[in-house]
Amino acid sequence: MNDKVFIFDTTLRDGEQSPGASMNTGEKLRIATRLDKIGVDIIEAGFPAASEGDFEAVSKIAEQVKDSIVCGLARAVPEDIEICAKAIKNASQPRIHTFVSSSEIHLKYQMKKNQEEVLEIARESVALSRNLCDNVEFSAMDASRTDPDYLCRIFETAIDAGATTLNIPDTVGYAIPHEFSELVKYVINNTANIDKAVVSVHCHNDLGLAVANTLAAIAVGARQAEVAVNGIGERAGNTSLEEVVMALKTRPGTFNTGTTIDTTGLYPLSRLVTTITGIMVQPNKAIVGANAFAHEAGIHQDGILKNPMTYEIMRPETVGLNKNKLVLGKHSGRHALHTHLKELGYDLSDEELKIVFKEFKALADKKKNVHDEDLEALVTEEILRTTDVFRLEYLHITCGTTVSPTAAVEMSINDRTVKGTANGNGPIDATYNSIAELTGTESELLRFSVTALTGGTDAQGEVTVRLREQGLVALGRGTDPDIITASAKAYINGLNRLEYLKENPVKAKV
Ligand code: KIV
Ligand code: ZN
Repeated sequence: MNDKVFIFDTTLRDGEQSPGASMNTGEKLRIATRLDKIGVDIIEAGFPAASEGDFEAVSKIAEQVKDSIVCGLARAVPEDIEICAKAIKNASQPRIHTFVSSSEIHLKYQMKKNQEEVLEIARESVALSRNLCDNVEFSAMDASRTDPDYLCRIFETAIDAGATTLNIPDTVGYAIPHEFSELVKYVINNTANIDKAVVSVHCHNDLGLAVANTLAAIAVGARQAEVAVNGIGERAGNTSLEEVVMALKTRPGTFNTGTTIDTTGLYPLSRLVTTITGIMVQPNKAIVGANAFAHEAGIHQDGILKNPMTYEIMRPETVGLNKNKLVLGKHSGRHALHTHLKELGYDLSDEELKIVFKEFKALADKKKNVHDEDLEALVTEEILRTTDVFRLEYLHITCGTTVSPTAAVEMSINDRTVKGTANGNGPIDATYNSIAELTGTESELLRFSVTALTGGTDAQGEVTVRLREQGLVALGRGTDPDIITASAKAYINGLNRLEYLKENPVKAKV
């Protein structure tokens, strides 16, 4: 494809800035591998100077990703840029992404610098980045509220200093599509040497317009879209990867350009990010929501049966939603499980497959049909959470109309076994009291929700919790056919994420 749109995914950086969405290195690697596999052009793997955990995750992703460019974010200060260069040094295609604010309001109140000083910071930081890496992106933070002529000057300076991509962020989600496309056009027409760089946009969704603004920018010549899976990100989130990719694919004549993403990987990717972060997508979310391809009205169903194109502008298979899902059961063998997991995008090692197969058999004994959602939950719990501090070993509940709810819990804490019993207002309360006592944690439960993973009374319960301790917030997720066990797993998962945050204090946030 000539003149394609590069997809720059920031799920692991801006996406991770969603409240409670912190991920450990193993989880980030799993997502990065999948992004690479579906053909994402650039993966923003993190902000290496923010914490040791971020540095480690970016370094590991840089080592393991095969085809995508691996990018690290750095503020426009030498220390950040040097740390970033170290973190990405083993990538086959590394990129440094450095940024500085450009709007009058940021310069006056936040940076307390004038335009000439900021121009110099941009020049020096891009030049240093270019000394350390051939591929450099420069972002003018709060570009959509920046004087357009100053924006062109700062971009011209960045290109002269060696930037190869120029990013126009709508940092606060203030832009409106027709104005934003005018700004992008203005930058393209009024920045000298613009032909030496790719023009990029990075939109936030505060007014629900991130995708619309991104598409408006592409229509006038932007050729890199910064996006996140499921649209997660700071505040109301970032532009949704799946929506931009599918808009370009569904309306090729309108945009005259497109991406090289394998769209059949979009739905599994969305599920992976949901299971890892615990951030659910709303049922009516475009492309990947549970109802995105569900036709309720009789007249629509009739049309679909006669010709799907009467009411469907995209086929569900195109985004990897296979309506005729293979259901596994207790007679399914290791080979069938392995093959099916591969189709879902999980290429497990022999050792990992052994663990998952054992748990799959245990689950199939409890429930007749094991669905894709069950398998995803199993892989997440058994494979991705290997670095957990706390693990549930045993849970026994006594409850009913005539007894006070009691939970007996056995856990391992860094491989040391502890046991205890506690009462509560109900079985979940008793379980949470017991876990809190055993772990010595004092988290506050901010949110608790239970849903069914699939249909039927034997469906696994999926519990999501949001916990706060010492000013840190984490989400936890757990699944099990027994909802009390699922609740315990979710709570423990949240506590493990809080432990990770305590051990990896964030030094800087964008
Ligand atoms: O929203 C923003 O401006 C950012 C920059 C770091 C690109 O995330
Ligand atoms: Zn952002």
